[in-house]
Amino acid sequence: MKLDTEIEQALNNQISKEFYASHLYMQISYWFKSQNLNGFSCYMKKHSEEEKGHGLKICDYIDDMESMPIFDAIQTPARFSFANAVDAFTIIYAAEQDVTQSILSISQLSSDKNDKATRSFMDWYIDEQVQEESAAKDILDKLNVIGNDYAALLILDHELGG
Ligand SMILES: [Fe+2]
Repeated sequence: MKLDTEIEQALNNQISKEFYASHLYMQISYWFKSQNLNGFSCYMKKHSEEEKGHGLKICDYIDDMESMPIFDAIQTPARFSFANAVDAFTIIYAAEQDVTQSILSISQLSSDKNDKATRSFMDWYIDEQVQEESAAKDILDKLNVIGNDYAALLILDHELGG
């Protein structure tokens, strides 16, 4: 099977977005580490690896479709310092929502172009985004309840690092 040029371009752009998410998560992982919140740091590092995996899965798909994945420049995370854990997770949640929109637009494009293979391939990413957004929102909600309660923050840190 051969990819439509516009879909191929959209998939290549998505590779960069997934690798950017990986960069962002790793950057934030080290901010948490600098705050001695090692559970949060491990959680972010694990997610960074997952995002890299998402990018590579698209690379393999493009290869399966007898084309060449193109590795474009990866955007630098805008910030490496955060006011608090809520601030960091607000950025993560927004980044996940941004990825979801991008995934949905590729899915829509593949429907418009009647590319059933890419449409089916994107379904996995849509399911994944439901989980990713939900996980980020759950932690953000907990952090908002925790507020300035450092002892409660350490309990959540311990849970995430487990
Ligand atoms: Fe992802």
